[in-house]
Amino acid sequence: MAKQIGYSKKVMDHFMNPKNVGIMENPDGYGKVGNPVCGDLMEIFIKVKDDIIEDIKFKTFGCGSAIATSSMVTELAKGKNIDEALKITRNDVADELDGLPPQKMHCSNLAADALQEAIKDYKKKKK
Ligand code: FES
Repeated sequence: MAKQIGYSKKVMDHFMNPKNVGIMENPDGYGKVGNPVCGDLMEIFIKVKDDIIEDIKFKTFGCGSAIATSSMVTELAKGKNIDEALKITRNDVADELDGLPPQKMHCSNLAADALQEAIKDYKKKKK
């Protein structure tokens, strides 16, 4: 069997076949964050109905781990109540992916932070 070189199978799956990639016209919430460690960028768009995230898309200029973690974050957030989705942490994302190499943990910040920004944006607009 090939020796695992740092990335779990789930990370590779989400990297090769990322879910919810794209942009959204007129999203209900939009979040954009830059990663202070590497300078990469992440954008998340959400459509919300009755406080449930009905649809979600992401666009990133990040590395493979950023792609895999955003794909996972969008999968975790879809169908959730916004307050539940707000509690998704980068550790949840990394756990769901069966771990990330330590030097790549900063990449998972992007996805979780952009999701939080998008939800905050939605809440601000709703007021
Ligand atoms: Fe920048 Fe991973 S190296 S997001």
